[in-house]
Amino acid sequence: MKNYRMKKSKIKNIKAREILNSRGEPAIEAEIETNDGNFFASVPSGASKGKYEARELRDKDKRYQGKGVLKAINNIEKIIAPKLKGKNPCEQKKIDEIMRELDGTNNKSKLGANAILAVSIAVCRAGAGAQNIALSRHIAYLSKLKQTKQYPLPCLLMIEGGLHAGNNLDFQEFMLIPAYAKNSFSKNLEMQTEIYHELGKIIEKKFGRTAINVGMEGGFAPPIKSSEQALDLIARAVKKCGSNNKVKIIIDAAASEFYENKKYKINGKIFTNSELLNYYKKLVKKYPIAGIEDPFAENDLQGWQMAKKLPCQFIIGDDLTVTNLEKIKTAKQNNFINAVIIKPNQIGTVSETIDSSKFAADSNIKIFVKHRSGETNDDFIADLAIGIGAYGIMAGAPCRGERTAKYNRLLKLIQ
Ligand code: PGA
Repeated sequence: MKNYRMKKSKIKNIKAREILNSRGEPAIEAEIETNDGNFFASVPSGASKGKYEARELRDKDKRYQGKGVLKAINNIEKIIAPKLKGKNPCEQKKIDEIMRELDGTNNKSKLGANAILAVSIAVCRAGAGAQNIALSRHIAYLSKLKQTKQYPLPCLLMIEGGLHAGNNLDFQEFMLIPAYAKNSFSKNLEMQTEIYHELGKIIEKKFGRTAINVGMEGGFAPPIKSSEQALDLIARAVKKCGSNNKVKIIIDAAASEFYENKKYKINGKIFTNSELLNYYKKLVKKYPIAGIEDPFAENDLQGWQMAKKLPCQFIIGDDLTVTNLEKIKTAKQNNFINAVIIKPNQIGTVSETIDSSKFAADSNIKIFVKHRSGETNDDFIADLAIGIGAYGIMAGAPCRGERTAKYNRLLKLIQ
């Protein structure tokens, strides 16, 4: 980053509009005009959100069953825009701080994290535009992280359950991760995509045509109940493609979603946290599982204390850590995690996302940049993954435009 000098540029105007996300819910697109052109950003939305995430502002718009974003749009145009006009978009941190101060809450609930993040990402694009460099490179400069030569490993979603699918599978996601970092990004993507298509054929043969419909993130959602069934189906597809030993599995249990009264309910059975730990241990022994995301609920710290006993490579925090620097620090101090999910809309600004990623990278915590279930076609997280030197990217299945947009952007950046 030696030749990087901050260029002069000015924000002339900020507009916002309502668009639709991949679930057909309203989302925000922000547009920033500078002397270098117009820069856009839109923000996604989660379904299985962590309790401690920054808050989206949704109003009681009758058209959208109380999920409107008109108030958040108004906040951009009437409250944020006047304060940012004339500012240099290269000064990301300063601009994000202005928005945080204007909001004044610790979870961005006044102006809305959806309003603030849409502007923050558009500012980041305008900064890259002013410098006339790729967004990923601009993010790398802002993060001042030592760049690795390795691109993020694609972790493609194969099977969905939990809140994301109309089946009875309790765990939310079954993803693949390349077993070796040696292959190129495109080779890894190709291999996993072939497995995905093979899996579709196996599911169709076993359960019929209606079983190959997909969930919110493009993963198959067959009518199965147990994790073992999901893992067996994936194992068959991997074997058929001759990819044994080339891929491993990451499970996103999203355990907060089946945690109630200090117990976990899986497949109709009740588990204590230590019973759940034993169940995970059994799965890890039987299947090539590289990591488990949110194995325990965000408030079950006793469970998280046990997570280090899991005999797999990655214990990943998501609802536990919500891209929040303080929460990641606490998880690290307690030795709960060795890997973390980074989702910009959990925290609400680009600079805070970068600060959290920086701490993770400096603490040897592996970073997985991840999408949300209600996505837009914005591919910012692809540039982010490269800019912060993420270990992996989880952007869903190789299916549905809002998911493939991220992988396709990475293919472009890598060339
Ligand atoms: P969500 O899902 O976006 O619905 O909250 C979380 C995830 O995919 O990790």
